[in-house]
Amino acid sequence: MDKIRILGGRPLHGEVEISGAKNAALPLMVASLLTDAPLTLSRVPGLADIDTMARLLAELGVDIEMPEKNGGGTLTLNAAALTSTVAPYELVRRMRASILVLGPLVARFREATVSLPGGCAIGTRPVDLHLAGLERLGARIVLEDGYIHASAPGGLKGAEIHLATPSVGATENLMMAATLADGETVLHNAAREPEIADLALCLGAMGADIAGAGSDCVRIQGGASLSGTHHRIMADRIEAGTYAIAAAITGGKVVLSGARAEHLAAPIDCLRQAGVTVEERNTGLFVAANGRLGAVNLTTHPYPGFPTDLQAQIMVLMTVAKGSSLIGETVFENRFMHVPELARMGADISVSGGNALVRGVERLRGAPVMATDLRASSCLVLAGLAAEGETVISRVYHLGRGYERIEKKLAALGADIERIAS
Ligand code: EPZ
Repeated sequence: MDKIRILGGRPLHGEVEISGAKNAALPLMVASLLTDAPLTLSRVPGLADIDTMARLLAELGVDIEMPEKNGGGTLTLNAAALTSTVAPYELVRRMRASILVLGPLVARFREATVSLPGGCAIGTRPVDLHLAGLERLGARIVLEDGYIHASAPGGLKGAEIHLATPSVGATENLMMAATLADGETVLHNAAREPEIADLALCLGAMGADIAGAGSDCVRIQGGASLSGTHHRIMADRIEAGTYAIAAAITGGKVVLSGARAEHLAAPIDCLRQAGVTVEERNTGLFVAANGRLGAVNLTTHPYPGFPTDLQAQIMVLMTVAKGSSLIGETVFENRFMHVPELARMGADISVSGGNALVRGVERLRGAPVMATDLRASSCLVLAGLAAEGETVISRVYHLGRGYERIEKKLAALGADIERIAS
C-alpha cells in the first residue's frame, strides 16, 4: 500500500483550485436513476469514491461516459436501460453512500434490493431513517440475509415525514424518491447541508418541483417523470476547509479558488477566533496566519454548525495553539481515532466520551503514523506539514477517497511531500 512522506515546517504559499464536492457528486450521480434521459455532471472530482459509485451504477445497467479512472471532469450517466435493481454487498460495503440508490430505484422501478451498508470506522451509521421514510412513502421494506428488500407495486405516495435526526443521506434519499411519488411529500427536520441544496438545484433542472432544500423543511411535489440536464457540481467545502487549516497551521498565505465563504461560516468564525486572517475574494477565500494561534473551543453539529468532517483537521491546529481547546463531537460516536496517531507526534490530547481536551504544545514532531478513515488521514497530513522533521503516513488509500491529487496540490503550494509507491 502506498505511503505519503512529508518533511514539515514549510509555510504554504500560492493558490489552490478547490475541486467539486464529493458529497454532492455522489447523490448527483445517483439522481441519474430517476430518469431515462442523460444526466451530465461537470466538475466531478477524481476520487476513489466516485469510481466506486460509477461501478455500482454500471452494475445496475447505467451507461456512464467517464473521462478516465480517478481523472475527474465531466460524466454523462444514462439509466434508460437498467438491467438490475440489486446493489450487492461487495460494492455497498466499500462505500456507505451506496445506500442512496435505494430511494430512486424504488421510486422509478417500484422495487430494489440493496445490501445493508454495515458499520464503518467512525460509527455504526444505521439507515433506519432512510427505511422508515420510505415506508411512510408506501414502500414495503423487508430485511433478509443482510439485504434490504424494498417494493412499491403501486408506486410511492407522497407523505409527511419527520426525521428523528437531520440525516444528510436520509434527506437526500427521500427527497429523490419523493420526486417520482404521487402527490406532495414534506420532509420535516431535514438536513440543511449545502450538498442537499445542490442536489435539489439539479433535480429542479430535471423538472422536479422542490421547495425549501437547504432548510429544515423540504416540500416536494411528486411528478410522473423527469428529464435530463447538465449540472456543474458545487465546490467541496470540506476540501476548502482542510486547505484553509493547512495554510493556518504552516503560517502561510493561500488563496482557495472556488471556495464559498457562505458554506464555511462556522469554520471561518473558528479560524478567525484563533487569529487566522480569512478574507473573501472574488475568486474564493484568502487565508493567512503567522506566529502561534490561540486555542478555541468548538462542538460539531449538523449544518450550519461546525462540520464533523472538519473536526479532525481543526483539532490538529489546536494541538499547536496557545492554551487549551475543548472539542466536542456530537454527530458520530467514534470520530477521535486520529487522537492516538497525533499523540505519537507529541500532541497532548485527553478524550472523554464525545469530548477531547487539547493542550497546545510548541511543535509537533514528525513520526510514522497510520490513517484510519478519510478525514483522519487528512488531519495526519496537516500534522506532518506543521511538524518538525519527517512524517510517513501509511494506509493513504483513505485519502484518495476524498481528496483529489492532494499531494500534487500541496507540493504546488510549497510543501515537501511525496507519495511512496509500495
Ligand atoms: C454524510 O454522511 C456525509 N457523507 C458524511 O461525510 C458526513 O460526515 C455526514 O453526512 C454528516 O455531515 C456523504 O454525504 C456521502 P448522516 P451520512 O446520515 O449521510 C445517524 C465524509 O467524510 N443516522 O447525516 O451517512 C448517523 O449514525 C463523510 O465525507 C441514523 O441514526 O450522515 C450519524 O450519527 C463521512 N440513522 C448521524 O445520523 C440513519 O438512518 C448523521 O448521519 C441515518 C443516520
